[in-house]
Order: sequence, then structure tokens, then C-alpha cells
Amino acid sequence: MLPDELRAALDKLLARYSPQELSRSVAQLTERYRTGPSPEGAHIKTPADIAAYAAYRMPATYAAAATAMRQAAAQAPGFQPVTHLDAGGGTGAAIWAAGETWPSLRQVTVIEHDPGIIDLGRRLARTSETAALREAAWRHASIRPGLDRPPADLATMSYALGELPEEDRPRVVRWLATGAAMVIIIEPGTPVGYAAIAAAREVLAEQGMTIVAPCPHDGRCPIQPGRDWCHFSVRLPRSPLHRQIKAGTLSFEDEKFSYVAATAEQWPRAAARVLRHPQKRKGVVSLRLCTDANELRDVIVSKRQGDLYREARDVGWGDAWPRTD
Ligand SMILES: C[S@@+](CC[C@H](N)C(=O)[O-])C[C@H]1O[C@@H](n2cnc3c(N)ncnc32)[C@H](O)[C@@H]1O
Repeated sequence: MLPDELRAALDKLLARYSPQELSRSVAQLTERYRTGPSPEGAHIKTPADIAAYAAYRMPATYAAAATAMRQAAAQAPGFQPVTHLDAGGGTGAAIWAAGETWPSLRQVTVIEHDPGIIDLGRRLARTSETAALREAAWRHASIRPGLDRPPADLATMSYALGELPEEDRPRVVRWLATGAAMVIIIEPGTPVGYAAIAAAREVLAEQGMTIVAPCPHDGRCPIQPGRDWCHFSVRLPRSPLHRQIKAGTLSFEDEKFSYVAATAEQWPRAAARVLRHPQKRKGVVSLRLCTDANELRDVIVSKRQGDLYREARDVGWGDAWPRTD
């Protein structure tokens, strides 16, 4: 799933630390994910913590960002960004994912407030085969509304908006969207992550942007907060660190994420989005859909429907329906 150069660079990096050091750092990270974000990334302190973050979380945030970006790109097939701004970029998961999704990118800027994280992100990016990643500008700054920034066709925040104080987020989303042709924001696929995405989505729509994914409409989200939350899942192989620390556990993990992608230009929308793993039984597939009529709908596609049934057997959680790829 990860680009080969990134996988190799992460493996090399891990070899510098003892399994005990990495286990300690991962235990702290895991605790932090259980209890919620702490201010100023205070949980990531030592070089071993940063390496553990990169090895333990970056494959998952990369997979989530790459999946969200692939879905957004499918809805905006003529979008060929040249410039990319990634705010709260960490060790660079989203710039690697964007590089894979849009080979048109030439100029990449990351904004990140932790110098140790920047140092590692930059070293990883320099191993890339893509010039835009190798030459990315890593800017040491704290995200805030009004912070000067380069113009960007693509503007992203991956697992970072939720680390900002809630009252700052609407202004930060407006700041991120300024002049961008596409904005993508990704958060953990939890009720809290979804709530941050739902609020960001409202701000982007108020800015006059078109929501292209995952929603097939710009209207109010039909999901009732507190009862459910819109999220998706991507399966990835467990990293060597995972396997080292949790011997005998599954060889894969499922990363749950929520996201929104919005564009300045209008693109034809998907008719619907699949909101759950399709349930496949003999001769029928049940799909939970969010539709362009701004409603949730459960549909059953049966074998008698021929091509549509074959399509339903192949469609996955998070895909547009009918498929656009
Ligand atoms: C959970 S990590 C996500 C990193 C990366 N985007 C990813 O998807 O893997 C959040 C990152 O945002 C950075 N961050 C949090 N608040 C920030 C702020 N106010 N300004 C700049 N960076 C910030 C943290 O230092 C951390 O690297």
C-alpha cells in the first residue's frame, strides 16, 4: 500500500531504535488516541516517539488520505493540481498520498509546528522518486487564521484539524480554502472526528464550494448526530512495528476515517455513496446509501438486475454508486 521508497525509508529508520524504546513510545501514542488529543502535540517528545508515530500511524493515515483523495479525484477527473499545501503535515502522509493521486503536482508546501517532526518528514520525502516531494518546502509555523501561505490548487489537512481548538476551526477551514481549487480534510472515523468533518463541511459549503466527496449533495447531512456517524474504512497490512510489538495479532488493520472533499468548480456528482460494507447474500446485495436527494436509503439489488447486480457485487464501502471509476 505504501510507496516502496517510503516503506524502505521507514524500515531503515526503525532499525535505529530498540524494540523497547519503540514499544514505550507506541504505548504512549495508543493511550493518547484513547484519551483524545493533547495540546501542542505534547505526546510526541523524543526522536523515538516521532519514529514510532511515523512507523505506527503514518501507514494508516497515508492509507486514509490516499483513499479519500482517490474518491475525490474520481469525482473531479479533470482536476490536475500543480501546487499543494498540507497543513499540520506531520511526517508527510498526505503529501505522499497526493503525489500518488496527482502526478501533476510540482510544488508542495507543508506547514507543521514541530521541528523534530519536520526533520523526519523531510528526510522521508527526500527518498521519494517524485521531484515535488523531494523538493517540498517544510515550513515551521503554527496554523492560525491569517497565517500567510502560498497559493495552492490543492489544500489538505489530514488528522490535524481536530488537534486545533474547536473555536479556531471555522476560520482555519476558511483560511485553508482561500484560493484553493480543491480542499480535502480527513479526521479519524470516530463520532468526534465525524463531528469535526461535518462542521468543516458546513464552512466549505458556506464558502460557495461544491462538496464532491463523500457526499452526493451540498445539503444538510442526513445522518443524525449522536445516532450514527459518516465514516469509511481502509484495510492495510500491519507495519513491521505493529508485528514487532503485538506478536501474533492480525496481519492487517482497518483504519476508520471521516473526510470531506470540496471544489471551487462544479463537477457532476455521484448519484449516491455506499455508507457500509455491502451485505452479500445468495443472489442479493444490500446497500446502505447516501443519495443525491440528501437522504439515507437501503436498497437491495438482486441477481435479476443483471449488470447492476454484478456492479453491486464489486462495489465497496465508500465507493460512489453506481461506480464512477
Ligand atoms: C495526528 S498528526 C497528523 C500528521 C499527518 N497530517 C498525518 O496525516 O499523518 C497532527 C499533526 O499536526 C501538527 N499540528 C497540530 N497543531 C498544529 C498547529 N497549530 N500548527 C501546525 N501543526 C500542528 C502536529 O504537530 C502533528 O504533526
